[in-house]
Amino acid sequence: MLKGYYMFIKFYSRKSFTNIMLSFTLIIAVFCNPQFGFSETPPTDQQERVYQKAVVAADHPLASAAGIAILKAGGNVVDAAVATSFALSVLRPASCGLGGGGFMVIWDERQQKSIVIDYRERAPAAATPDMYAKLPSTDEQRKLASRQGPLAVAVPGTVAGLCYAVKEYGTLDLKTVIQPAILMARKGVPINDHMRSIQNTMLRRIKNGTLNPKRFQILFDEYLNQGKPWKENDRFFSPQLKSLELIAEKGWAGFYEGPVADAMVKACGKQHGGILTLEDLMKTQPVIRKPLTTNFNGYTILTMPPPSSGGIAIIESFNMIKSLEKELLGYSFGKLQIHSPKQIHLLTEVMKHAYADRAEYLGDSDFVPVPIQRLTNQNYAKQLASRINVEQTKPLKDYGRYIPPQDAGTSHFSVMDAAGNAVACTETINLTFGSKVVIPEYGIVMNNEMDDFAAISGKPNAFGLIQSKANEIEPGKKPLSSMSPTIVTKDGKAVFSAGASGGPRIISSTLQVLLNMIVYGLPPEQAVEFPRIHHQWMPNDLVLESKLFNQNGSKLKKFGHRIKESSGIAATQAVSRQSDGLRGQSDSRKHGAAAGY
Ligand code: GLY
Repeated sequence: MLKGYYMFIKFYSRKSFTNIMLSFTLIIAVFCNPQFGFSETPPTDQQERVYQKAVVAADHPLASAAGIAILKAGGNVVDAAVATSFALSVLRPASCGLGGGGFMVIWDERQQKSIVIDYRERAPAAATPDMYAKLPSTDEQRKLASRQGPLAVAVPGTVAGLCYAVKEYGTLDLKTVIQPAILMARKGVPINDHMRSIQNTMLRRIKNGTLNPKRFQILFDEYLNQGKPWKENDRFFSPQLKSLELIAEKGWAGFYEGPVADAMVKACGKQHGGILTLEDLMKTQPVIRKPLTTNFNGYTILTMPPPSSGGIAIIESFNMIKSLEKELLGYSFGKLQIHSPKQIHLLTEVMKHAYADRAEYLGDSDFVPVPIQRLTNQNYAKQLASRINVEQTKPLKDYGRYIPPQDAGTSHFSVMDAAGNAVACTETINLTFGSKVVIPEYGIVMNNEMDDFAAISGKPNAFGLIQSKANEIEPGKKPLSSMSPTIVTKDGKAVFSAGASGGPRIISSTLQVLLNMIVYGLPPEQAVEFPRIHHQWMPNDLVLESKLFNQNGSKLKKFGHRIKESSGIAATQAVSRQSDGLRGQSDSRKHGAAAGY
């Protein structure tokens, strides 16, 4: 009977009243019926799941299930992506959501066309380069101002981006694709291990005095269970229900105008020491961009241009690997044993060059000149690769040119269908629970994306990243991001889609997952779960996940690297087309699970 519904929906013209009413019924039927892919206790064994029609890998199992429910209801990959994103607002409020921003890369197989939707947050019109440096307070308070509280908030872009995506590239209505999120906010969702660990971390911060619950009372009450540790059968009821319902009813205007907009300005504007205005909100629209591309081993890689630094760094890295294969190794990179000391060393050197260039050149290309062509050119990669020594790492000054004066929340998901369409989407509110400001009436967690700028000249940001003048604050400018949603195509069909959350570790982790799939031929189950490394040029540390640290730490010291151990580097989600069907993996590091059918 449900199959009949799907066909009925497809038959009717898109977005007609009948379509909307039927889709509502259908989404509820599909989403609430375990037989159709939704279960509140989805399988945790993600191994060896092969799907024939579609796959979604998000960092929460119910978000993956939301995307699949929409695909089963006749939606396309973009409808599924928008549904997954709204669901993540409810399920991962510490990582992303209505108060944040993101990037979406789409591959349309039928039209052989790629689309990039940039809905990254912007600096409010009243922002200035020295807005934090000139605050009359202590160094510590100045540093905190771009991370906590109303002044840390950049103009959110997610709702504008999602409304645009579904209108221009979806086949269903916004009202329909937002239904899973509304249902979850209304019915509540089970607490999982990740939510418990976020609550633990935040309560520890309150205990050690680095987070004042009185200053962020709504966060404490609505998202941290008033300090009471979550219990086994507790459910989380998102305070964003009213905002989601208003967006369902009014679309863009339900968020950027009217009572929600007024409430955001009240909480993040002048009245509470912030600079957000109604004009900032009312001007918010996504920017449509062209992806950056390169070819590697017969694949076409489509990735995110500025204001992300991720795409340039990933293309530069693939290009350097091509040059290393040709000039230095004389054989394919894939012949180096994965995670052998030599493979890790060479990959680290590639990362150090790419991140050094990030520090020097990258910012919002709508505001500052970014030498995209030069940085993504194969000849430039050849020059960099020729400086790599196979036996030894080098001093920091040998990477890039920029010597600074002295200077996780995020979520990624991937969608793919059998026809060869795909979406890669990364969204963020920057740090865990963003600015910690929650809009009292609507539960929206506001981002602290202002800290992704070079907030105070000469000082590293919360991720220890060094930033140049190219990423200085200007009114309306977008802070440089590391988010790197990437799709790989072959013969006109999407074959891989991947991305990550984890600040600057997004770039290195996405690169490694792509290398694992493209070069080493691993399915996403292994490509995502394999241990990872990270080097961001500055600080000059080669970070290894514990398994690699124990295996190779002392050997890598011989290459001259300063080694650090990490229990987990970033969280990645990836999907792929294999000869037997579609596969997807959500990183067990963040307790996600993929879904498909
Ligand atoms: N806020 C993390 C990023 O955009 O890089």
